[in-house]
Amino acid sequence: MKGLVLSGGKGTRLRPITYTSAKQLVPVANKPVLFRVIEAIRDAGIEEIGIVIGDTGEEIRAAVGNGRRWGVRTVFIEQPEPLGLAHAVKISRDFLGDDRFVMFLGDNCIQGGISPLIQQFSHSDYNAQIVLKQVNDPRQFGVAELDDDRRIVRLVEKPREPRSNLALVGIYMFDAHVWEAVESIRPSARGELEITDAISWLVNNHYRVFPYIHEGWWIDTGKKDDMLEANRLVLEELEPAIHGYVSRDSQLIGRVIIESGAEVINSTIRGPAIIGEHSRILNSYIGPFTSIYHHCLVEESEVEHSIVLEHSSIRDLPHRLEDSLIGRNVEIIRSPLRPKAYRMMLGDNSSVGVL
Ligand code: TTP
Repeated sequence: MKGLVLSGGKGTRLRPITYTSAKQLVPVANKPVLFRVIEAIRDAGIEEIGIVIGDTGEEIRAAVGNGRRWGVRTVFIEQPEPLGLAHAVKISRDFLGDDRFVMFLGDNCIQGGISPLIQQFSHSDYNAQIVLKQVNDPRQFGVAELDDDRRIVRLVEKPREPRSNLALVGIYMFDAHVWEAVESIRPSARGELEITDAISWLVNNHYRVFPYIHEGWWIDTGKKDDMLEANRLVLEELEPAIHGYVSRDSQLIGRVIIESGAEVINSTIRGPAIIGEHSRILNSYIGPFTSIYHHCLVEESEVEHSIVLEHSSIRDLPHRLEDSLIGRNVEIIRSPLRPKAYRMMLGDNSSVGVL
């Protein structure tokens, strides 16, 4: 069995971060979402993983490399334009051959425990398997309608009036019959080859498509608040660990991870929170659900429920920074402007002066 990870796309919902970098590389609890996906596939015993890339391909190639660090082999598959999830499958045919495979969306974050399901599919005689999750508002997802025997009746992409609350989670498993399906479907009204149409084709042609309902959490990290929510959920599951330096006048409360080379001086960190490698926290407060990535500086400031990407600095803020996603190489410092609450989504290389 092989793995296929979709890591192209436009990422319009996560601008401006995605103007300069791939959304799949935004870290959740200091590990890029894409790396979490690769680990989930590896944990199912899969050794060959194809990664579909688009405009941000170079950055993804550089970050992932040959996969040896995870004990897998990676192959990069270039998708000239993001023409849909089924299009991404279609262009991966040379890599996949007639093998069974699992496909993951590279920007989805799912609670563990999915690997046995993938393993089970590799030995089963199903033609496809989809993963569903009950959600409150299914209108923004692919939605599955099941009958009383839990068989799939219908799949609809982003329905205006959903007939169930079962959304398709970004994990799909197929056998070689998918090739006929992706060749048979036509682009949708939004001009994309939809994976829901390919799966519907399999269902309508009486292939065995098995729906599995996932009980754990699942986040499609398309937008800032989803990123923060995924960050919150993953941080809550991490074990505390201190690999860096914590001065005696600092206080760590609850589930806190200090990565190697990090320094916490005269500061309070209230977990769950993680401080990345070689980051410095000076005379500051880091509140729950915060991930500070590597080589950052937080000085004389308070940060809570936020993700701060690498090489950024936050200094002398008179108000707490919260609910924020801060890009790379960002500098936020105090300046004599009118004070207000800060809620920010800052792209890479931003510089903001605040009072
Ligand atoms: P989406 O989140 O559906 O699309 P997108 O990345 O273009 O984002 P937005 O809607 O904000 O513009 O994509 C899900 C995942 O699949 C994501 O990791 C990108 C990837 N993808 C491809 O690799 N090829 C494609 O043609 C599309 C549509 C998505």
